[in-house]
Amino acid sequence: MPGILTLAAVNDPELRAAYTHCRRNVRRRDPVEYAIMQLMPPVLRPACWAMWAAFTTADDIVDAVGDTPADRAARLDAWTTALETELAAGHSADPVRHALIDTMRRWRLDVADLQPSFDTFKGDAHGRRLETWREWSAWVGDTNLSWASQGMTLLARAGVPVPVWLRRKDAYQRYLDGLYLTDALTDLSQDLARGDISLPAEILDRFPEATDHLREQRWSPAVNDLVTHLTGQARRWLNQPGLTDALHPGTAEILRTVTRLFHARLDAVQAAGPALLSHPAVPAPPIRWRILAPARARTALAWRLTPLSPPSPGSGPAIPVPRQVRSALAVQPPPPHPSGARPPAIPADRMPQHVAVIMDGNGRWATERGLPRHEGHRIGANAMRDVVYGAAEIGLSHLSLFLFSTENWKRDTQEITHIFDALRDQLRSELATHDALGIRLRWAGRTDGLPEDVIEELLQAEAATRHHTGLTVIFCFNYGGRAELTQAAARLARAATSGDLHPDHVREDDLAGHLLLPDTPDVDLLWRTGGERRISNFLLWQSAYAELHFTDAYWPDVDRRDLWNAINDYARRERRYGAAPAPLPSPDGPTRQGSKQ
Ligand code: FPP
Repeated sequence: MPGILTLAAVNDPELRAAYTHCRRNVRRRDPVEYAIMQLMPPVLRPACWAMWAAFTTADDIVDAVGDTPADRAARLDAWTTALETELAAGHSADPVRHALIDTMRRWRLDVADLQPSFDTFKGDAHGRRLETWREWSAWVGDTNLSWASQGMTLLARAGVPVPVWLRRKDAYQRYLDGLYLTDALTDLSQDLARGDISLPAEILDRFPEATDHLREQRWSPAVNDLVTHLTGQARRWLNQPGLTDALHPGTAEILRTVTRLFHARLDAVQAAGPALLSHPAVPAPPIRWRILAPARARTALAWRLTPLSPPSPGSGPAIPVPRQVRSALAVQPPPPHPSGARPPAIPADRMPQHVAVIMDGNGRWATERGLPRHEGHRIGANAMRDVVYGAAEIGLSHLSLFLFSTENWKRDTQEITHIFDALRDQLRSELATHDALGIRLRWAGRTDGLPEDVIEELLQAEAATRHHTGLTVIFCFNYGGRAELTQAAARLARAATSGDLHPDHVREDDLAGHLLLPDTPDVDLLWRTGGERRISNFLLWQSAYAELHFTDAYWPDVDRRDLWNAINDYARRERRYGAAPAPLPSPDGPTRQGSKQ
């Protein structure tokens, strides 16, 4: 039987040596994770070794005992900068980077995708204190999700179907938290030896006695209570219902096996007692073997039934441009308005951060001209493009556009199909412009009911522009404000049921943190065209204090100058967020007050 490297078409002797170095590295340091990688399709295993070796290299630099935080950060910086530079050359003298570069090129992965993880490692090098579980979970995500997503992309590129929901961050974040918490418990002794406890202050403050004892590396009933609490929490997070639904049988088996192995790790943690403070808690080999042997047989069968092939090196599209090079490319100004109009100068403290637009009146515009409604959407798409240019030109930070609501499914199928077509056209034709103008595109909305290719196009546009730092344009597509709030409430209820959140302690921030794009600022200005004066289920939570602006023109007749007028109008308004107005001087004695809100 040919070796794995031969199966994966790795023929160059130097490359084979680099991948072999990575493989040994994994097997020596973590036999369980090595065994999990052996469940992957053979053509992907070398890529997994390379990525794992790169991840642990970064992790080791951060954890290096004896170095100052500045030294660690500088070493990590040197390592990632070398990676970006060498990527273009396709070669590195460092075996881990050499294998990683080959993996990135062979499978058309983008090194910029790993940047969030490297940035988080850099932050770790300086030391960090995490206050709450929410901060801890964000940190876990920032460190690991980029690598997990690369794993998904690898599977997809090899021909294993990966459902869209699995590639959306929220679906597996909790599961990842469960894996990471299990790791933190398993390796507690190593963290303590470095004087570190990788748990948030929130939980340590609830178990103060245990925390003191842990810092002294002393086992006690209090420590036992904390460990019992945390293993229970990790088990609940690992038991995510429906995690393997609709997955390819091979991928589903890997996920189920990982879950079983991590439960076995938690059993070992609970059984370890005082030994947990001096050695990593690992399940005994026969336990691992009982889990892994059948998994090996099942995955081997699953992959045999799926024709998978390695891409030939260099067969894919151009090698991704490293991030540092890309960010050095100058962001261009948008094409000017044909009239030569320029944006008004708005003082920075009077500029809205986030403008949301209900682009109404497409249908009426078309009907009044004897045209089919979809012609209104087609011309409306041009108006939208001009407004996006105007938003970039005036220096707006966030622009939300209501493109298709959860209520729009009530429309004629033909009209819906045309809106989907307009979306595809818009996404494809504007990709180069988004790059040139540094526009980041994001999608807020549900996947239900949308054709797979529309979902795919939206996700790809998000992924392609994720590092752009100019205007953020949010496509609210298949979006409904009540649906968004209902989903956020369901997530809170889940957190309460699993014990992560106490119902008496729910704050506004907890709900806001479960909205579709929780890192987006509130809407300052909500503008609706087409003469109607409603907000129609748009960004209900985010618009709580938005200034409202209504104009009569139908959307296809609108251009960037109308956006600038709306912003000008906003800049003159007084926003009070429920506070009393400043007293107005009155000629005849008592001061006058404005309205209440
Ligand atoms: C409301 O007008 C508008 C929409 C439901 C769709 C918005 C679509 C565009 C602006 C065109 C660009 C589209 C994409 C997807 C890029 P309406 O149809 O409700 O108008 P009416 O009130 O006159 O019937």
